[in-house]
Amino acid sequence: MNFLSHSSPLQNIQSPLFPGIDLWVKRDDLLQPQVSGNKFRKLKHTLLAADPRLTTLVSMGGAWSNHLHALAHAGHILGFRTIGLVRGIPGEAQALTATLEDCRQLGMELHFVSRADYRELRDQIDHWRLWVPPESNNYLWLPEGGSSVEAVRGMAELVDEVRHELGEHPSNMIVACGTGTSLAGIVAGMQDRGRVIGIAAVQNSQYLRAQIQELLVRAEHPAYDNFDILHEFTHGGFAKTSPQLLAFCDRFFADTHIPVEPIYTGKMFYALHQLCHAGKFSAGERVVAVHTGGLQGNRGFLQS
Ligand SMILES: Cc1ncc(COP(=O)(O)O)c(C=O)c1O
Repeated sequence: MNFLSHSSPLQNIQSPLFPGIDLWVKRDDLLQPQVSGNKFRKLKHTLLAADPRLTTLVSMGGAWSNHLHALAHAGHILGFRTIGLVRGIPGEAQALTATLEDCRQLGMELHFVSRADYRELRDQIDHWRLWVPPESNNYLWLPEGGSSVEAVRGMAELVDEVRHELGEHPSNMIVACGTGTSLAGIVAGMQDRGRVIGIAAVQNSQYLRAQIQELLVRAEHPAYDNFDILHEFTHGGFAKTSPQLLAFCDRFFADTHIPVEPIYTGKMFYALHQLCHAGKFSAGERVVAVHTGGLQGNRGFLQS
């Protein structure tokens, strides 16, 4: 499967926005044109190991979900049917966001589910079966954000690539956190060396640390401790922004020519900018920031 064998460039950034550090950006936004960033890595091993009888991939997400968007593309490219369970108003005709319109055009079957059902989908492993026929043995459920042990494995490979490109083990890595799966994979790849900083995109997500360590153990790694999750850079919550954040995203793009969105990657780079100014790194310290893609989500943001 050629489609699943991409790697992404590692780019050195010289910018006054990040004083005092030696900044490298792992450009997973360039990993694959459609299945963007961390979603590609998170889906890769699940799809490579898929039972040949598997016909349909089922998952959940919000109206601007990067994960559903990536899944719809992956299904389209690899010949799987896809079903998306979307947080919304069940049974009512509703305007599709640009993300869902893309999903629909790629053949994804969309079902809107209530907030209560959405919560159940998170908490109860079999709840998704309510939306598929009873004899659907050839269906595979992917939890929210594509979180799985296979996703940890896919994300860990990113660290191998970075090590190869730098010619040494990275000492600091930084990544945005939603479910924390990407960070878990990076921590797994670091193998207890160096440190990993996660920038929480969701408010009140103090549960992440335990969730990440549990996922590491499920993926047959030790419950590594060499990571910190910073919760003070959410700008009020998931998909919330501030004028400072938006101004930073513009300035970041003007300076580096690297596009970001304000939901994950913009928050992560802005946090890194603030950490540099707060003197949290020693002079010349090397930091690898992971650009997790998700640029399609910008469309939702610009319209709101
Ligand atoms: C662009 C982008 N970056 C980062 C994340 C966070 O990844 P994770 O859920 O693995 O923490 C997500 C999605 O969740 C995302 O879409």
